[in-house]
Order: sequence, then C-alpha cells, then structure tokens
Amino acid sequence: MNSPVMQGLNLSTPAYVKNAKLIAWVADMAALCKPDSIHWCDGSDEEYNRLCQLLVDAGTFKKLNEAKRPNSFLACSDPSDVARVEDRTYICSEKREEAGPTNNWMAPAEMRATLQPLFDGCMRGRTMYVVPFSMGPLGSPIAHIGIELSDSAYVAVNMKIMTRMGKAVYDVLGVDGDFVPCVHTVGAPLQPGEKSVSWPCNKTKYIVHYPETREIWSYGSGYGGNALLGKKCFALRIASNMGRDEGWLAEHMLILGVTNPAGKKYHVAAAFPSACGKTNFAMLIPPAGFDGWKVTTIGDDIAWIKPGADGRLYAINPEAGYFGVAPGTNTLTNPNCMASLNKDVIFTNVALTDDGDVWWEGMGEPPAHAIDWQGKDWTPEIAKATGAKAAHPNARFTVAATNNPALDPQWDDPAGVPIDAFIFGGRRSTTVPLITEARNWVEGVYMAATMGSETTAAITGQVGVVRRDPFAMIAFAGYNMSDYFQHWLNMGKKLEETGATLPRIYTSNWFRKGEDGKFVWPGYGENMRVLKWMIDRIEDTASGTDHVFGVSPAYEDLNWAGLEFTASQFDSVISLDKEVWEKELELHAELFKQLEHRLPRELDETLTRIEKRLAA
Ligand code: GTP
Ligand code: SPV
Ligand code: MN
Repeated sequence: MNSPVMQGLNLSTPAYVKNAKLIAWVADMAALCKPDSIHWCDGSDEEYNRLCQLLVDAGTFKKLNEAKRPNSFLACSDPSDVARVEDRTYICSEKREEAGPTNNWMAPAEMRATLQPLFDGCMRGRTMYVVPFSMGPLGSPIAHIGIELSDSAYVAVNMKIMTRMGKAVYDVLGVDGDFVPCVHTVGAPLQPGEKSVSWPCNKTKYIVHYPETREIWSYGSGYGGNALLGKKCFALRIASNMGRDEGWLAEHMLILGVTNPAGKKYHVAAAFPSACGKTNFAMLIPPAGFDGWKVTTIGDDIAWIKPGADGRLYAINPEAGYFGVAPGTNTLTNPNCMASLNKDVIFTNVALTDDGDVWWEGMGEPPAHAIDWQGKDWTPEIAKATGAKAAHPNARFTVAATNNPALDPQWDDPAGVPIDAFIFGGRRSTTVPLITEARNWVEGVYMAATMGSETTAAITGQVGVVRRDPFAMIAFAGYNMSDYFQHWLNMGKKLEETGATLPRIYTSNWFRKGEDGKFVWPGYGENMRVLKWMIDRIEDTASGTDHVFGVSPAYEDLNWAGLEFTASQFDSVISLDKEVWEKELELHAELFKQLEHRLPRELDETLTRIEKRLAA
C-alpha cells in the first residue's frame, strides 16, 4: 500500500490503483471535502453485502422479507429529494452559446467559485467512497471509464448494479489511462458525534457539468440521475459532447431486438421522454396473435451509437442495470419486468407491506395496510379519503440487467447491434398520431426535433404540461441543441455517402386520450402491433397512407388478431386534425425561434413544407 497522509486523513490507496492522475485527484478532493475516511470500492459481492448492512444499520435501508423478495431492500428518500432537478442542472461551457438556450449555463470560473465553499468540508463525518466504473463492457473500445467520489453508500451500491463497477476498472485504467472525474456529495456534513439522518441531502442542489474538461460535480441530492453520475450526467450529457467531437451518438434510448416468425432479427432504438415507456417497450411480450414474434432487451434507457465499417449504426447499452419506474408496473403490463424484480433489488420510495414486501400504485390488489414511502400508515381507505399515494409516482427499482428473463444474448456484446429503426415517442393526450414513418432522414430528424411531451414525475416541478422535448434529450443534450440537430443531420449525410441503408425513423404516441379521459390505445404488449408494422415496412410488406408529415397505417394495415379495437377507436388515435395541427406547428415554430441561432436550415425548410401542405 502506498499511503500518503493528507491533513490527518489516510488515503490508503490500494496497491492495485496505479493511475497517478487518479491518486492525485482523490487526494485533492479528500483535502477539499474532508471526509472522515476513504473507502476504495472493489465491486465485490462481499463489499455490496457489507454496504447494504451498513445502510440497514443507518436506517436508510429496510431489508425486505427474505422468503418473498430475497436479498432486496427498500430505501425511502427525504420528501424533498425524489427526482431529477432540471432547474438545478448546469452545463458550464466556456461560452454560453455552446450550452445553448435549452440548458442552464454559468461560466466555469463562476461555477467553480460557487461550488468551492459548498464542497469545502461537505463530507465531514462521512466516508468518501471511491467508485470505479465502466460505461460499456470493460476494456471494450467503445466503453469509457468514470470514477465517482461519493459520500453516499446508497450511491455506491446502486452504482454496483447500474454499471460495471469494481477493481477490474483499474486494470483497464492502468498508470496513465483516462477517466471522467465525477464528484458527488449529499451536502450534509456531520458534527463530531452527530448521527446521520436516514436520507441525508441539502435543500441547495447543483448538478454541474464542465463539458470542455469532461468533469461532473453534483451537490445536495442523493436521488437517481442527480447522484448516480454514470447515468444521465456521464452517459448522456458528457458523452453527447464526446459523440459530437468523435462522430457518434449518445441517446436517451432503449434498444431492443425483435425477431419475426421467419427468424429474421431487427434492432430498434427508441427515445421516449422520462417515464414514457422505454423500460416497458424494451421488455415487451408479443400478445396472442403474434406467434413466432420475439422481443429481447439490449437496454432500457441509454444507447451509445457508433457508425460501423459497413456504414450501419451499431448501438450498445452503456449501463449494466435498470433504474426503472415502479408505479404502473404489474404482471399484466410488464411480466418480464416483474420477473426481473423477484430478487436482488433495491427499491426506492415504494410502500412497505406488513409482510415485509413492497407495493406500489398499479401493481395489483392493494394491501389492507402498508407503510407509505414517507413512513406513514397507508390503507385503501386513507388513499380514498386523502388521495395519499403509497408509493411516490417516481418510485424506482434498481436491478441488474442479468435479472431480466428477456435479456438479449448480445446485450453485452462490445460490437453492439445494428440499428434498423429509430422511434421517437412523446406522451400526448391529443394531436399526435399513434405512429408515423418519416419519408427520409431529414423528415425523421424534424419529427424528433419537434417532439412534444407531457411532463412526468421523473422530474421535479409540474406534471402533465406539454413541453418540447427534442429527441427526448431536452434535459440531457450536453451542448447546444441546434448543434445537436446538426450533428444528427451530419451523421445521416455521412452514412448515406457510404451507400448504406439508413435506419428508418418513426414517431409514436401511445398516450392519446378519449373524451372519458382514458387512454384509448391499450399500449404495453399491444404496442407489438405497431412494432410489427414498422418491421413489415422495412421488409416492404406493409402499406401506409401518405399525409402531411409522413406515412401512417390505415386500420387494415395493422394485425388485429386477438384484440377488439374498432376502426373508430383506431381513428381516434391515428387521426390528424387540421386546426389542431396548425396550432401544433405554431409550437414547432416557437421552438425553432428559440433555437434560431445555428438551427439547421433543413429543419426550417421542412416546417415550411409541412405548413404549405397542411394549408393546401
Ligand atoms: P425513465 O426511466 O424515466 O427514462 O422512463 P421510461 O421511459 O423507461 O418509462 P417506463 O417504461 O418505466 O414507463 C413509465 C410509466 O409509463 C409507467 O407507469 C408505465 O406503466 C407507463 N407506460 C409504459 N408503457 C405504456 C404504454 O404503452 N401505455 C400507457 N398508457 N402507459 C405506459
Ligand atoms: C429519467 O428521468 O429519464 C430516468 C431516471 O431514467 S434518472 O436516472 O433519475 O434520471
Ligand atoms: Mn431515462
């Protein structure tokens, strides 16, 4: 062991850590954050179990009933720390225009001056965990390494599930390898002898990215994407910058494999905004009437997509686990997901049943009594009288991908899978049809760029308001959104030049509502009907109807075997209303006005073309 001692703190660097830059950085951060001790995570199961026990002892975790839910835990957060905080998330590029109008921006020097006093002593009384992780298969040419320093054991154990975390990362890193430094603190230092609360956090929060120096600094939250820095901060915001510079894409997309009855396999990547159905779609089980069709999961949230030598786009899932939405998940809507949750799960903000298991809204038959996510008594009667939720609407599970019975055999393949189609799908009660195919790449990029979606509980703030969420990346593009559009257009042009067939682009909407306020489209497994149409389109065996902004199926173009869904119901999820679309196009124009600086000309031209065709 080489053990330089800093200000009375033993760095106790393990002998297998040989990266000089890393050792110096940990020393610097320890000097700044002043933890009581440092724990270098090795990623072993033994360590995982020890940290889980420590979290149980600290009151952060409750061990669930071993007979019902083996090796599983429940954490309940502070009620003020339940989702990503977009208004506290910053892209600190040197120039404001590099972050663009859709990101919060502060000059790096100013942000560093702001954070310095907050981080000074922020880990007092706590342990600093050094969490080495790889996004993507360890040592693969497409993977990237990060090191997260965190004063949260909850973060350390979640990172073990969500990433390839552990000692082996140091072998890849070597003496002079590169890593993305990620510093995280809950921002709740302890006085000598003071006992921690079960979910420490700070009402001041900063989720900060320095794209030029590829650094992440996160302060004040212990929840999800605010704290598990490999996920949105690294794999999307920092990686989107890497992708722009190096000619690839980092996207908020699930990746699935779909095999048709002829045994031919396709791969689809789909970008739906937060809590809009990615996990569900990635684990879809085809309904009756779809014999011989099979869907397998490569990823449920993030895709890194790189052009291959053959001119096709290859996608990998940089993650190793799922941090998925619990409410609404049940054995009917998503049986594969429920099966994934049988053991080895960390649940956050769901309800605890009297027999030591978990429950959430939409899981099925409610228990007669439970303890809700805020530790209060909950009964169906209380819920009826007060509207109290047993689980927070953004309650989540953390589980290893290997728990998923539908996991694709290639999910871990460093070469990735070739993408045949992209889907962009918002949550819209009105306006947007069930499915539309773009006639070409530019039209597809236009659809993705102008996508709108109703906000969900995945972010703090108002739920259910329509906002533009280009590419489902409004909160995750780590640079100027107009440049991001241009990058997509450039990628398309480059691939076209190789003579390769570009992936088709679709836009979907599972969420149109009827006059009764209920979803008209049955969704979930029934989305297979739409997926089949897309695959058949690629195969050139399905027809569709050309309209103002693309091609959509007519009633008879879909397979309805095993489902009662009338032509008039179908009409109410596929129809395009002229007046409604005139208003919708005004919102597209508003977005383009906001993004005017550097907006690709092709997108403006596409809008004009659609406006003209709609008016005709
Ligand atoms: P993030 O992890 O936040 O990025 O979300 P996600 O896109 O993976 O969302 P997820 O699949 O977890 O779904 C979120 C919510 O949408 C859950 O409550 C689901 O029950 C619901 N949902 C998913 N698919 C469908 C669908 O096809 N129709 C309807 N009506 N609801 C759906
Ligand atoms: C999302 O909000 O899109 C998520 C959950 O996938 S979090 O990891 O918290 O960002
Ligand atoms: Mn997500």
